[in-house]
Amino acid sequence: MSASSRTRIPLLAALAAPLALIGALLASCGPGGTTAEAPPAGEGAPVQFLTANGLNPQAGEASPLGRLLIGRGKDYTPIAEDPKALFDRLEASMADRRKTAWTIVEALLEPQKLTLEGKTYEVPLWHTWYEGMSVNPEVDQKIKLFIAQLAACKADAACKKTRAEIAHEVMEQAGTDKNMVRSLVSANLTQVLKQSEGFDRGAPEEELGRGFTLFSPSFVEHVLAQAQGIETCSNKIPWNQPPPSASQFSPCVDEFPRNAVMVKTSWDEIDGAAPKVSAHATDAAAITAVLKGGSWPKPTLEPVTTNGIYAVQTTDGKVYGLKSIHFSTKDTREWIWISLWWSPKPDEDFGQDRPAALAKFNGGVWSHYKMCVTTAFNETDPKPWGPYESGQPGLASAIKAAYDGATEQRNPAPYDKVTTWCSNPNLEHHTGNGRTNCIGCHQYSVTWNELKNRETYFNDTYTASMAAEYPQYGRALRRTNFPAEFAWSFGMEFQDQIKEAREDQGFNW
Ligand code: HEC
Repeated sequence: MSASSRTRIPLLAALAAPLALIGALLASCGPGGTTAEAPPAGEGAPVQFLTANGLNPQAGEASPLGRLLIGRGKDYTPIAEDPKALFDRLEASMADRRKTAWTIVEALLEPQKLTLEGKTYEVPLWHTWYEGMSVNPEVDQKIKLFIAQLAACKADAACKKTRAEIAHEVMEQAGTDKNMVRSLVSANLTQVLKQSEGFDRGAPEEELGRGFTLFSPSFVEHVLAQAQGIETCSNKIPWNQPPPSASQFSPCVDEFPRNAVMVKTSWDEIDGAAPKVSAHATDAAAITAVLKGGSWPKPTLEPVTTNGIYAVQTTDGKVYGLKSIHFSTKDTREWIWISLWWSPKPDEDFGQDRPAALAKFNGGVWSHYKMCVTTAFNETDPKPWGPYESGQPGLASAIKAAYDGATEQRNPAPYDKVTTWCSNPNLEHHTGNGRTNCIGCHQYSVTWNELKNRETYFNDTYTASMAAEYPQYGRALRRTNFPAEFAWSFGMEFQDQIKEAREDQGFNW
């Protein structure tokens, strides 16, 4: 253990027992950790394994040195309400929408316990799920296993398993537990998000989104079972082609189960004596400017401590803070789109209605985040700021600013409805991307840009000159079908991974 990581432990361990400490302990167990506390190579660290259901029978048994496994967290439990009724209720009421979104956030933060050297750590549920990106390619691992087992089944005349059955078996299979040693490395926390890759060439380094995507177990299982449909999904399906059926709007795949969740994270390094992270104002004046100008203004640098942001420490001793996180749940057919961002003034505007319950996790760090949510293309609440006017005026005026901006930007019929708005200042930071609403852009994954005669890039969708093809800066409902089920990861992550796994195995559909 290095001197610096030793001194950091008490700081990070204070009260909260944040996940951060795990990295520091790993550093003590990993290569180079040669102090007395660290067991010699091969003998195993005194690590207890946990599963989602509690203590594993092997608890207390020595683990291979340098490996720290935490059971995969359980799946998300969807809201117990008919999805159509829920959709209608949330579309018509901002108060219901925000209340529901905070409840979902609470469920996704539920701590999974990890015990290490007699101390228990809280890992939020979402952080135990499958990472999608290339440094810690956990979904890709499952895809490879699935294709291999599908190929073996096809070669065996006696094998009568369906793809769904094989997908389920692959998910249950041991050997792909969450391995925080692979996850908590700087290369993972600093990789440029796909959305920032390529399209942002030339943008200042520090403005690129850095982090990774994660997917719930039920989401990954569905990706496996539907792998052929994902890989072969054409981006040329006409925007106005009717969907395959009333309950399936993707011509490529069956819709995801209601417990499916997608996550996207963005991190900043917060090392040093006086760490700072960039932050944005999101009050009414800022939102008016964002809707009008389209872009988030330049951020300011704000001081932060590890007690005030969800922080992790990597095995190489660096500390990263979670600046932003997107959650999309399939509670409704069109998904529920939630975004949190760290703020130096967390109790103002989009944080004014945050429930006190969030403070109970990870030593209270989640009280430093603000939230916006959208569940539909159109805003059918006639006065979405109304319920906040007396009690939370900052939130009311910020919501009204978004509503007024969207009202001004209506197009001629049929795109003359007021749309929703929700945008994360750290993730939708590209020029023009601030006036968007999540769902609008996500409808265009794996589709064709008819004006440019090529596939749609995400940043085509909010460009004013393309208003005919992407009305209302991409916020309006345009398509009658959604080939990729609203997941940009289909084209940006899974299609290539499935193809490669298939070619490696010499397997054809
Ligand atoms: C202008 C387009 C655009 C907007 C607006 C947008 N996204 Fe995305 N989103 C993307 C792209 C591109 C990706 C990259 C997929 C990847 O990295 O694999 C992505 C990834 C994601 C993911 C990871 C799963 C996936 O789709 O691959 C989630 C979750 C997500 N976005 C949620 C949101 C939320 C919530 C909002 C609104 C606050 C939002 N997005 C706004 C384009 C957009």
